[in-house]
Amino acid sequence: KTKVLKIDPSTIKFDNESNQMEILDRHTKDVLEEAAKLLQDSQVVGFPTETVYGLGASSLSSDAVERIYEAKNRPADNPLISHISSLKMIKDVFHTEIPEIYKPLVAKFWPGPLSIVLPNTPECPVSPVVTAGQDTFAVRFPENKVARALIEFSNLPLAAPSANASTKPSPTTAEHVLADLDGKIPLIIDGGQCSVGLESTVVDGTVDPPMLLRPGGVSLEEISSVGNGWEKIVLGKKTAGQYEKVRTPGMKYKHYSPTAKVVLFEGYKNASEAIGMYRQGHDVEGKKVAVLRSKYWSECGHNVSLIISLGKTGEEIQRNLFAALRTSDKEGVDIIFVEGVEEEEQGLAIMNRLSKAASEIYSKE
Ligand code: TXA
Ligand code: MG
Repeated sequence: KTKVLKIDPSTIKFDNESNQMEILDRHTKDVLEEAAKLLQDSQVVGFPTETVYGLGASSLSSDAVERIYEAKNRPADNPLISHISSLKMIKDVFHTEIPEIYKPLVAKFWPGPLSIVLPNTPECPVSPVVTAGQDTFAVRFPENKVARALIEFSNLPLAAPSANASTKPSPTTAEHVLADLDGKIPLIIDGGQCSVGLESTVVDGTVDPPMLLRPGGVSLEEISSVGNGWEKIVLGKKTAGQYEKVRTPGMKYKHYSPTAKVVLFEGYKNASEAIGMYRQGHDVEGKKVAVLRSKYWSECGHNVSLIISLGKTGEEIQRNLFAALRTSDKEGVDIIFVEGVEEEEQGLAIMNRLSKAASEIYSKE
């Protein structure tokens, strides 16, 4: 049985200058000690970050990391991000240095929802199970205080993918983690809802021009604004929602998917028109329908049984998106109609996740 232990993040204090940590509460300390002991014993722990909940294990232990893949039922060919709690760990633990190109990015966005790809070296003790045999490894310094404190207490870099069962939407609450992994992991630390709500941005500055491998919590616009070569950043092949569109619906490997069928509409500012389009080609009779709306959709019509407002701003939409997909499943919805957003700022990451979850996409120029 999986234990869920709650921590109040306000009982953890960090001084950002010195990176000194202070724990103001006995219970918080007890929970962190218990979790740290599990991690040092090569076990896995579910924990909050500002992006999504992670399933953490020591990056230095292949046994530990294999337990992550097992619990998630995830194919082992997808490399994991190692999480650190100070810049010092790059030198002290990984025995390497941050390449020059990353300096302004790290200065501006760490701690935060940004992951960087570093060259792997023979001195670097990160398990080959983490890197999936690649000659690079990914690192993130999260901002979430529970995450940082957990890394400090365990004194380990933590490899952590999102703590969902493989193919399910990423978890943004401890309840989501429990729903997917109950009985499969010993402990989940509940630190409340994730503030960002979708995964970190992954960038690769080891190549020229630098590449955006996954859009996420830090926008492309923010990254290119730091200069130092980042103004030349190009989108990785799988980055744009655009790329997903040309692929045959239903033929692709689905990520982030609820059980319900997701239908995504791009450029439709009117919900009734969008849903009407879909109904021309499909029988929706007797199906339970949910609508996820954001900026423009109001009147939905057409026997919709669940309407979820994701919010108006990119920040709100990205915070609520994964939870809304899970809520629809819980309500036994068959089809989810989603209002797309423009692919700018947070919209790029939102449309990337939505196009991966969707089995059909309707675009209007
Ligand atoms: O926000 C996040 O990044 C969350 C939280 C828990 O920190 N973690 C997360 O991990 O999303 P995961 O495993 O779901 O996604 C890791 C991403 C994948 O897209 C993977 O391909 C990429 O990072 N990645 C990891 N190592 C890499 C490497 N060496 N080179 C290129 N991409 C890498
Ligand atoms: Mg994931």
